[in-house]
Amino acid sequence: MDRLSIALILALVAASVSAAAKAKCVLTGSWINELGSNMTISSMSKNGNFSGLYYTAVTATKEKIKVSPLQGSQHHKNEQNQPTFGFTVNWSFSDSTTVFTGQCFVDKDGKEILRTTWLLRQEVHNLRDDWKATSIGSNVFTRFQ
Ligand code: BTN
Repeated sequence: MDRLSIALILALVAASVSAAAKAKCVLTGSWINELGSNMTISSMSKNGNFSGLYYTAVTATKEKIKVSPLQGSQHHKNEQNQPTFGFTVNWSFSDSTTVFTGQCFVDKDGKEILRTTWLLRQEVHNLRDDWKATSIGSNVFTRFQ
């Protein structure tokens, strides 16, 4: 391969990397995580507040899983391309609450991805059980709609 071809290839790679870096990650839409849970984020307000619906694929309970409401906000200052966000799911079929926090990224292929960390709080019946009531984990979401 001659020098010109190498320079051309490098320029193309650099252009696609910078295009991916400039692309905006948008939270509204439908997302699925590695557990098979899915959520739809709708109604993004001007100040970055949003709501949506979460359908978990798994549960720590014996209850029948039902779709549950979520409410959150994304960081909106300076209209970042890869905003941080947080949301709460108020489970409609259990007494638990989960909070997710994360960041919306655009990867090198221009694909949006949500990297999140969550805390799941389960209800316990006395203070002595408080120590075992909170679990932590992470989920990665990709867009399906
Ligand atoms: C419950 O079991 O009481 C409610 C459902 C919790 C589902 C958790 S939240 C964190 C993790 N990510 C998911 O998509 N589902 C589980």
